[in-house]
Amino acid sequence: MHGIRKRFYSTINNVLVCGSGLMGRGIAQVTAFSGYNVTLYDIKQDVLNKALELIKDNLNHSFNKQLNDKTKAVEQTNKTLARIKASTDLNSTFVASSPDLVIEAIIEDLEAKKTLFAHLDKIAPPGVIFASNTSSLSITDIASGVSRKDNFVGLHFFSPVPIMKLVEIVKTEHSSPETAIICKDTPGFIVNRLLVPYLLESVKLYDQGIASIKDIDTAMKLGAGYPMGPFELLDYVGLDVVKFINDAWHAKNPQDPMFQPSQSINKLVAEGNLGKKTGKGFYDYT
Ligand code: CAA
Repeated sequence: MHGIRKRFYSTINNVLVCGSGLMGRGIAQVTAFSGYNVTLYDIKQDVLNKALELIKDNLNHSFNKQLNDKTKAVEQTNKTLARIKASTDLNSTFVASSPDLVIEAIIEDLEAKKTLFAHLDKIAPPGVIFASNTSSLSITDIASGVSRKDNFVGLHFFSPVPIMKLVEIVKTEHSSPETAIICKDTPGFIVNRLLVPYLLESVKLYDQGIASIKDIDTAMKLGAGYPMGPFELLDYVGLDVVKFINDAWHAKNPQDPMFQPSQSINKLVAEGNLGKKTGKGFYDYT
């Protein structure tokens, strides 16, 4: 998959990443680490500031480990950070950064994504590739309002982005062969198609009183060799994200028992307990 990632990026120098949350900042980090110029765009300055701080810490950690020399690590971190610009002004940053590729990693909401891409389509010259990091929406639906459907793909990263070695490149029926060819535009692509039913089934086991959260996690870690149990992973990915995927798939397949809304997840999300990022989810991190 690394080769594919390289091929996809081969004619690209400048990358605009829209959204600086968990995924966006991770994508910006690995893209800059790989030598590309990155502009990170977000509507919120405080979120951008936090993203830059975390990227700096992560880069420093990686270079320290790689070089085993604190001074050189700081040098390399600063060099890499110099390739990342941050902005809350999409129009001016677009002109200044002249991106060859735009990767969208904003809120998992179809209308918000379509609005952003419609705007980008107006300001981006032809040939600029548009990519969405959506985890559950159809790439075809997200691309429906833009003129460059041939230059529109899914580019689906996994969390934590600097560590996970996979990127799913998702083509629609309009994507040109030069832009990408990996996986068809189907719900969940490959990983989430397999992962989300597994996570939801784990919650059902718990809801039905078959086993405790801790025992289910231990079972999957020790019995299947997974690095995290399903509840640890649910909290890690974010229960709001999982609820969004569950709701969207349930709306498309209302009869499928697999995607019936989960009481436990809905309750936790309603309480604002979204997992690790809020300090509480299935587990308490405070
Ligand atoms: N950002 C950057 N680096 C991180 C990190 C983060 N959020 N979390 C952990 N790391 C790094 C650590 O710094 C450490 O690096 P070094 O080896 O250089 O020190 C390395 O990862 C290992 O971390 P730990 O030793 O602390 O912990 P671990 O061995 O348990 O690994 C893990 C942590 C990599 C997250 C591992 O538990 C894991 O692989 N979990 C499964 C993750 C997974 O399934 N991701 C996919 C989620 S689904 C998704 O993202 C798609 C979607 O659309 C919803």
